[in-house]
Amino acid sequence: MFFDTHAHYDDEKFDPDREALLSSMMEGGVGCIVNPGCTVETSRQAVEFAQTYAHMYAAVGIHPENCHDTGNEEFEQIEALAQKPKVVAIGEIGLDYYWEENPPRAFQKEVFARQMAIAGKLNLPVVVHDRDAHGDCMDMVRAFPNVRGEFHCYSGSVEDAKILLDRGWYLGFGGSLTFKNARRAPDVVAYMPLDRLLLETDAPYLAPVPYRGKRNDSKYLPLVAARVAQLKGIDAKEVEQITWDNACRFFGING
Ligand code: NI
Repeated sequence: MFFDTHAHYDDEKFDPDREALLSSMMEGGVGCIVNPGCTVETSRQAVEFAQTYAHMYAAVGIHPENCHDTGNEEFEQIEALAQKPKVVAIGEIGLDYYWEENPPRAFQKEVFARQMAIAGKLNLPVVVHDRDAHGDCMDMVRAFPNVRGEFHCYSGSVEDAKILLDRGWYLGFGGSLTFKNARRAPDVVAYMPLDRLLLETDAPYLAPVPYRGKRNDSKYLPLVAARVAQLKGIDAKEVEQITWDNACRFFGING
């Protein structure tokens, strides 16, 4: 079975067939999915999915792209949601310096830090979104030595990967690993120990080759596993089993 550690089934692209799709995951070989929230509202939806579907779990948090109006009230709501059943992480949280219209960097950092503190308080792992903000994300990791987590869709260097792995962090990889223009990710996968790697889709985004540009869903995960297997020179079945165990260990789920 495959474990999709990161998929956004609250996205409107799933409105036409969400229920049918989520109900058919098992027959597609997908045994478990973590749906991270990006706002208070989508975090609430993620918690609802976890209540509805046995194979779904939730992460709750405010994404840097969506943090414009975040204040005390929102942090309190995230902290309350984080204590609901089947909530296994705080995420996705982090920094996104790619889009110019995103909130100011200083404010993004403040929102990120507040949520790292919530994770530390509740002893939950974090799911980090880092886009073009590697240095500041690494600083945040160092500022919260008691918080561990995962960099989802990891795009950093081998050097930073080493620092994160030494600190007990995990790294997530998805469809972009299969892209022809994938730059550093294949090197990092080749370098890192397989028992710290998490498979993810980031559905509906980042569908793997040959579905690049189409709507992504968790059933495409075997294509990512195949690429990992190729980079590691091992059997895809082994990647499937080890990444399943990794995800269960990381999120504290009895798989
Ligand atoms: Ni995401």
